[in-house]
Amino acid sequence: VGSSVTLSRPPSPKSSLPSVLETLDNQLVVSSSKLQKIVLHMVSEFKKGLMNDNENIAMLPSFVVNRPNGTEVGDYLALDLGGSNFRVCRVTLEGFGNIRMTHAKYTVSNELKTGSGEKLFDFFAECIGSFCKNQGLDTGKSIPMGFTFSFPVEQTAINKGTLMTWSKGFICDGVVGQDVVDLLQRSLKKKGLNIEIKALVNDTVGTLMAHAYSDPQTYISVILGTGTNAAYVEKVDNIRKWGTGNGEVIINTEWGNYNEATILPLTPWDLKLDRRSSNPKHQIYEKMISGMYLGEIVRLILVELVKAGELFNGMGSQTLSTPYRFDTAYMSRIERDHSLSLADTKQVLEDVMGVPKSSVEDRRIVRHVCELVGTRAARLAAAGIAALVTKINRLDACTVAIDGSLYEHYPHFGNRMRDALRELLGITAENILLEQARDGSGQGAALIAALA
Ligand code: GLC
Repeated sequence: VGSSVTLSRPPSPKSSLPSVLETLDNQLVVSSSKLQKIVLHMVSEFKKGLMNDNENIAMLPSFVVNRPNGTEVGDYLALDLGGSNFRVCRVTLEGFGNIRMTHAKYTVSNELKTGSGEKLFDFFAECIGSFCKNQGLDTGKSIPMGFTFSFPVEQTAINKGTLMTWSKGFICDGVVGQDVVDLLQRSLKKKGLNIEIKALVNDTVGTLMAHAYSDPQTYISVILGTGTNAAYVEKVDNIRKWGTGNGEVIINTEWGNYNEATILPLTPWDLKLDRRSSNPKHQIYEKMISGMYLGEIVRLILVELVKAGELFNGMGSQTLSTPYRFDTAYMSRIERDHSLSLADTKQVLEDVMGVPKSSVEDRRIVRHVCELVGTRAARLAAAGIAALVTKINRLDACTVAIDGSLYEHYPHFGNRMRDALRELLGITAENILLEQARDGSGQGAALIAALA
């Protein structure tokens, strides 16, 4: 079965080119039948993760056992660490499904990402302190807080959990194996802040909860941003590694660590990216899908085409040769560029990336590479959603709340996912609503703190 995505092949500037592009297409187009195989395999991996500890897909119980009904009220703080940014939020649950939120955004420098854990948590406390001051919050009496910490955490209670491993470029020491609530609580105390962390939350779990506050059909949430992950509602009785029980609990799947090399359509560029990453052999699915990595895959392909003399007359640039300097945001710009001369693509390549000269044909090739890598990501993410919907047997009606910069800003990402879902599920795909969620990770943390 061939893929139904239509890829506009650029006219060839040289006679040797079609074969180059054909090779790229062969490696990067994921057919419907290939996607089907991934779906089936992911379903079995989800089941394994519910059965045992230490499986690739960790399937971590979140200890969130109640979903909101829209009547919860109150004032909460939230700290939301996602990737390169974090936010301190003041969340007001107003009831009737309404949430009000003000927040301040901060950047985590590379120095903080790779330094000591204590410095990182002290920095969080410092920012929380200045936010409270700006908001005129009375820290005389204890303020409840939800902590969204978007990394794989083995939870032992709603407000307790140890970091299993870092991802998304973080390597701070002294945090893996530690209770991250404890670390933050200590830093808050050092700063004299009277704040009590009531809940520890993954961004996927927060997003699911925040969306369910206004749409009770929300059973699945997905993050497509710097990293990728999903959460869903599971019956406790299905969590064999927990013994037996009643009711439901939200599971943080940590699907980014789906790693099956015999099933995933890995290319030499994926393998190279993985080898050079801060976490080789981990988060392989995430590395094929999420915003932190897509630009880097494109960059690796472009560098190879330049070396082979197929692009820019064989002339690259220092910037193009530097890892992670081709942002995924440039792919968005290039895929949005519909001008005849691909003027914005020219700007990205020449002004931003420092390539000496690009012909229109060169730019078409670059755009085609972006299209291939971006489409593959969307289709693989859709396979994960199809697998989750299948796992929980909600093919009749299910809302999937999706947050993250990639889903929000990358052109056609949502449509490409919908196309893939239709190929996979046929007419029943219409019952799966993919909905844009925003700010759910912070709001959800407050909601969970409220329910705790
Ligand atoms: C990474 C983290 C995961 C998080 C995801 C999206 O995959 O391991 O916990 O949910 O990024 O931010």
